[in-house]
Amino acid sequence: MKIFAIDTSCDDTSVAIVENGNNVLVSLLSSSIDAHKDFQGVVPEIAARKHLEAIIPLIDKALKESALTFDDIDALAVTNRPGLLGSLLVGVGSAKGISFSLNKPLIAIDHIAAHIYSPHLTNDIGFPYIALVVSGGHTIITEVSDYGDYKVIGTTLDDAVGEAYDKVSKYLGLGYPGGPVIDKLAKNGEEGAIKYPLILLSGEDEYNFSYSGLKTACVYATNKYLKKGYEATNENIARAFQVSAIEPLYIKTANYVKKSGIDKVTVSGGVACNSYLRDIFSNSNDFKCFLPALKYTTDNAAMVGGLAYHIKDKVGYSDMYLDCASRVLTKTYNLRKKRSVS
Ligand code: KG4
Ligand code: ZN
Repeated sequence: MKIFAIDTSCDDTSVAIVENGNNVLVSLLSSSIDAHKDFQGVVPEIAARKHLEAIIPLIDKALKESALTFDDIDALAVTNRPGLLGSLLVGVGSAKGISFSLNKPLIAIDHIAAHIYSPHLTNDIGFPYIALVVSGGHTIITEVSDYGDYKVIGTTLDDAVGEAYDKVSKYLGLGYPGGPVIDKLAKNGEEGAIKYPLILLSGEDEYNFSYSGLKTACVYATNKYLKKGYEATNENIARAFQVSAIEPLYIKTANYVKKSGIDKVTVSGGVACNSYLRDIFSNSNDFKCFLPALKYTTDNAAMVGGLAYHIKDKVGYSDMYLDCASRVLTKTYNLRKKRSVS
């Protein structure tokens, strides 16, 4: 079964054709990152306009490169949640148009579930496993019992880890997106030259994350280090930040492995490109780690088409009333509601 997949959840327009869940016939991406660089972050209105410009030529290119026509396609899959609403609407509108005009079934996909699926494109994993999703918008530990079925164990209470990378990079004037820049600088930083706190929460937040404190500590402590004449080079700051950003991800995942007895872990989403993260997770003595191929780590449509194949019978097909949602409800969303009342 060949599925034509579209993902326009954030700033990348991506399309793919995936056969039977993991045979990726074509996977293309058009990035609007250059249009956001001056603003040091994704501007939703610009992202939506860039998707509009890119989507039709990219769909044509995918058919051309795979030497297929829509006659060869069995179904459409599209990300409809969570993400930037204006961006999601472009992908969903395009998928609906193709589905309606060619009478092909349409499958709606959750972007987080697609990230969780991404390591399956190149690995044989089996169930259950623990999936950590780390991206510009999300920091989530989940327990995965089947394709598309996941229980949220922990999430961020404030900034996502990728967002913290991007904001610290913006503060230091290092460029956007911050993750790859800080990762590169950190490699030349001196170990222990600067130290930032390791923010580990406890009690009901044992498996939740918080990155806004690290971001603030980084800003204040950097000023303090600079005043005291420490070696506050960008490389040393980057190295210290990287340790404090990545190690809580490992510690909490390893703790949950111990608690649950599930010893398989996957890590996906843009921050899973990080060299320090890949190193400590893939060399773990606490669990066996499966990572997506680098090209399927950041946003892509292959993960959407792959997951759609496995869950189509479970979730059914969508009609033309399919809507988009910027957020999905999670356990922590409910926790937050409880907190604000008390
Ligand atoms: O998954 P993704 O492409 O988009 C979202 O769904 O958010 O993730 C983008 C995020 C950005 O915050 C970017 O700074 C971060 O992934 N990122 C990295 C690295 N490469 C990308 N963070 C740390 N180290 C990297 N090497
Ligand atoms: Zn993503």
